[in-house]
Amino acid sequence: MNVQYRMNSDISANELIKVFNSVGWNKDEKVILKAFKNSCYVLAYIEDDLVGFARAISDGYFYTGIYDVIVDPRFQGRGIAKTMMGKLTDRFKGTYFFLTYTDGNRQFYEKCGFQQNDQSMWIPK
Ligand SMILES: CC(C)(COP(=O)(O)OP(=O)(O)OC[C@H]1O[C@@H](n2cnc3c(N)ncnc32)[C@H](O)[C@@H]1OP(=O)(O)O)[C@@H](O)C(=O)NCCC(=O)NCCS
Repeated sequence: MNVQYRMNSDISANELIKVFNSVGWNKDEKVILKAFKNSCYVLAYIEDDLVGFARAISDGYFYTGIYDVIVDPRFQGRGIAKTMMGKLTDRFKGTYFFLTYTDGNRQFYEKCGFQQNDQSMWIPK
């Protein structure tokens, strides 16, 4: 199955929400498009259907955060997320990359080159 990757191309809130919902994540559909447009994002398509995405927020020089890495469960395990991560890390090569991961996903990010860092903090929503 041929996977196509597009960076920052047109997308609708509905398409994004469908993929969020496929993994049980809920996002506010009134603002999700604005959030993506304020990010650099990679979209993965199979036969013109959106099956995954990943996005980054970067200053372009020093720091990059990675968010919302999702692949529809029907298409997981084919290297789609790793390819999208590679596109974001290539795009912002030379910056520090940061992310938070949810339960069970640490090894995935390790396979994308991330290392555990004990010196990060956050304020949960
Ligand atoms: C995590 C997620 C994005 C991975 O997507 P995917 O397309 O199936 O991942 P890939 O096929 O690119 O996997 C790349 C590698 O990581 C491994 N991997 C993927 N998910 C893993 C996991 N949860 N735990 C351990 N290894 C994992 C794969 O086996 C593969 O290993 P390989 O390179 O040795 O073959 C996907 O499972 C998902 O959308 N999960 C629900 C949403 C989510 O939790 N996102 C992450 C938020 S922190």
